[in-house]
Amino acid sequence: MITLRNLEKFYEGGYGRSYVLRRINMEIREGEFVTIMGPSGAGKSTLLSILGMLDGAWTGEFEFQGHMVHRMKPRERVELNKKYIGFVFQSYHLIDNLTVYENLDIPLSYRNVKSSERAALVCDTLDRFHIVGKRDLFPSQLSGGQQQLVAVARAVIANPRLILADEPTGNLHSSQGREIMELFKKLNEEGVTIVQVTHSEANAAYGHRIVQLADGWILK
Ligand SMILES: Nc1ncnc2c1ncn2[C@@H]1O[C@H](COP(=O)(O)OP(=O)(O)OP(=O)(O)O)[C@@H](O)[C@H]1O
Ligand SMILES: [Mg+2]
Repeated sequence: MITLRNLEKFYEGGYGRSYVLRRINMEIREGEFVTIMGPSGAGKSTLLSILGMLDGAWTGEFEFQGHMVHRMKPRERVELNKKYIGFVFQSYHLIDNLTVYENLDIPLSYRNVKSSERAALVCDTLDRFHIVGKRDLFPSQLSGGQQQLVAVARAVIANPRLILADEPTGNLHSSQGREIMELFKKLNEEGVTIVQVTHSEANAAYGHRIVQLADGWILK
């Protein structure tokens, strides 16, 4: 599904280039459940944003389901994201001036889901994540953990082929965290490819293999 060849990312600073990702070679097959681990600042979120087509400022090659992402225009990359990918951000990134209900409806609006089905899907999802009572609240009216639940719900609602999740359970109680991980496991068994970033050994155990990043390098 994904092949990265010699992918690199750097920022231009006062003292020259500072590299955040170095010579990343990686293959993720359809149906895999991969965990990315590593210390703070290792480049995990950076790598995930690139995989999610949210960042185009890098060098090297990135093939996604036969599409040559490195040759794409930003708009084409965004289309791939909308069509195939559900993303859980480390800091949630809910849209502040939309209610929980409206936030969940956004990914459906990107796909060809009929508006009658959209309402039913949003209601089912609110129910599944035990947040029915929060449907008309804005993100600022939710606790951190509740925002995280909405962020996970938004990532899975439109049946993406690929879920990219950055510390998806970091702010949840352990039983809620387990529920999210069980959901990911079930989706993965149904064929969804998952890449998660986590500091938790327990969460990592849900995946098939671990990719270790340190200072922007993949450790072999
Ligand atoms: N705009 C920027 N300019 C310069 N350096 C940046 C910028 N954004 C991120 N970085 C650097 O990129 C590196 C990797 O950051 P990243 O967020 O990917 O780390 P991470 O592995 O996700 O860490 P954490 O576990 O704390 O979430 C960090 O050293 C960070 O300082
Ligand atoms: Mg991070």
